[in-house]
Amino acid sequence: MKKEQILSLEYGDKHAKIMFIGEGPGADEDIQGEPFVGKAGQLMNKAFEYIGIDRSKVYIANIVKCRPPGNRDPEEDEASACMDYLRNQVILIKPKIIVLLGRIALQHILGPEYKITASRGKWFDKKGIKYMPTWHPSAVLRDENKKLYFIRDLLMVLQKERTLQ
Ligand code: URA
Repeated sequence: MKKEQILSLEYGDKHAKIMFIGEGPGADEDIQGEPFVGKAGQLMNKAFEYIGIDRSKVYIANIVKCRPPGNRDPEEDEASACMDYLRNQVILIKPKIIVLLGRIALQHILGPEYKITASRGKWFDKKGIKYMPTWHPSAVLRDENKKLYFIRDLLMVLQKERTLQ
């Protein structure tokens, strides 16, 4: 399958059924122009390999498209400045499933009232798209105990994708 980098700092297959949304590029992503290529991305790649998700067949995007200084959380105005871009990515890619990686993605997409601890591992339906919130890979790096849940959530995503074929 041909790998395509459609837009700077975004990566993947424009026909992907599964889209991942992270928070924003870090230092490594800024240098390489591709999301999730640093330590968090390497963990995500290992999880993909273990589960059998082909990174070149999914689409990976972020809430913000520029690196927040010092890796701080994106500010409200930064996230809303990038939201139309992300919305258009979703319209173009037409994913059936969106995996929300961490609190920032969850709260900007489903709403600020959603908590990652309570929401991860559960399906949410919105406008014909199935959303699966899970831990951000950086949180998994900080806390080994989250790894099992992260893997389990991604397995549910793969199983769901197979039922939607
Ligand atoms: N963390 C994110 O949320 N996105 C990236 O692209 C890299 C790290």
